[in-house]
Amino acid sequence: MAKIAPSVLGADFSRLGEEIKSADEAGVEVLHLDIMDGHFVPNISFGPAIVKTIDKLTGAFLDVHLMLTEPEKYFEAFVDAGADSITFHYKVHPEPQPYAEQLRKLGVKTGISINPDVEVAKVLPHLEHFDLLLLMSVYPGFGGQKFIRPVLSKIMEARNYIDKKGIKTIIQVDGGIDRSNAAEVVKAGADWLVMGTAFFGCDNRPELVKYINNL
Ligand code: DX5
Ligand code: ZN
Repeated sequence: MAKIAPSVLGADFSRLGEEIKSADEAGVEVLHLDIMDGHFVPNISFGPAIVKTIDKLTGAFLDVHLMLTEPEKYFEAFVDAGADSITFHYKVHPEPQPYAEQLRKLGVKTGISINPDVEVAKVLPHLEHFDLLLLMSVYPGFGGQKFIRPVLSKIMEARNYIDKKGIKTIIQVDGGIDRSNAAEVVKAGADWLVMGTAFFGCDNRPELVKYINNL
């Protein structure tokens, strides 16, 4: 069963409480929270205070995606704010194991992410230390971008590796996913689909959650 992980970046922040409630009521189990520092990516989003606010509003699993140059400086702050998993980028820590260990000690699930231009083979040998592999299907920084199709073959490559090794890492795909491509993303081997614009722009959210769950 595929899971949808709505990216709160796509929500209407003037009605954040209602948006989170509506995700809950639609049956969402995972919320994806995009944290940007204006340095690793050319945009700034929100920090631990907003994560804490969201944590108070929902019982959903909070999947925190750190687009930060020095993610480890903020691990503890996001864990204290209610993060259930923390994902950082391979590009800032190409030897990622010690950072995965730091996160484990803090009691959260661990995630690693690669941009669309990075070969998936680089990250595969590290996956035994990670609960989540976040494959970017856009260049991070902004919601509402177009899905980069060659990422489909990376999903397949990661799926084959994970299944062959018998490890449990969850494959997440992030960026430009909507109804037009969700089925092929799942077919390629994704477990969780991050959807910002497509989820928060949808007026029948329960139906969209069911559609993704049934893929
Ligand atoms: C991009 C973020 C994504 C993005 C998803 O930097 O990591 O999570 O907001 O939004 P959509 O679904 O609009 O591409
Ligand atoms: Zn993200």
